[in-house]
Amino acid sequence: MIVRNEEQNKAIREAAQVAATVLDRMVGLVAPGMNTYDLDQAGRRFIEELGAESACYKYKVGSRIYPAFTCLSVNNEVVHGIGSLERVLQEGDVISVDVCTRYRGYIGDNCRTVPVGRVEPEVQRLLDVTEEAMYDGIRNAVAGNKVGKISNAVQKKVERAGFSVIRDFVGHGVGKSLHEEPQIPNFGRPGDYQRLKKGMVLCIEPMVNMGRHGIVMGEDGWTALSSDGSVSAHFEHTVLVGEDGPEIITVPEGKVAPALG
Ligand code: MF3
Ligand code: CO
Repeated sequence: MIVRNEEQNKAIREAAQVAATVLDRMVGLVAPGMNTYDLDQAGRRFIEELGAESACYKYKVGSRIYPAFTCLSVNNEVVHGIGSLERVLQEGDVISVDVCTRYRGYIGDNCRTVPVGRVEPEVQRLLDVTEEAMYDGIRNAVAGNKVGKISNAVQKKVERAGFSVIRDFVGHGVGKSLHEEPQIPNFGRPGDYQRLKKGMVLCIEPMVNMGRHGIVMGEDGWTALSSDGSVSAHFEHTVLVGEDGPEIITVPEGKVAPALG
């Protein structure tokens, strides 16, 4: 959506803050021995405690209805993993915790991939590069730029590091619905796609495979997996295209976002 007045501005910031708080609390629970069903249920409780609702739960794509409250994707799972009692986190795993919530009518969406205990250096590098690629994208979320400036910055960072950006899922505008215009691919040239306007609220979310970029769909009809079995990472922030440049609105309380200048 495009924020046009103070009231909308306040509402979308509050909504984003709720999503950030839930993600932060969930990430705090990630540890070897935790199963992803319990982690999802913890997310459900955090969302309720804050007076919000999950924007994933019962989300429809065609005739499929998403059954969980958050998206939890482990290792070679790329996005939209469904929490399961059988999926017990082990030292050396990584897990993407993706939280999208609705609060007083507005949606906030954010994701981080975190290590479970100690991980291999190459896996940590994948997480670092994906997060840096997200910030490179965010720096280009400036009114007057084409969306492609974001896309290109993300793709460059990822490919120079020897990894691949996923083509099958993209970032998006956000507001009263989860997926709004414009789409924000994580690949492309600087002059590609729509032009950014002041007040736009965007979810910038690189999804990166350590190996090739292809994905396959899991048997549950939701979980996307890397087709080569390689580890995958995903970072996402909700960003306001502000008067004075990009502003990340999913920074949890007590944390500071890196400088964007
Ligand atoms: N953050 C995810 C996205 O933007 C949320 C998807 S909800 C689901 O695609 F129901 F599709 F999982
Ligand atoms: Co999103």
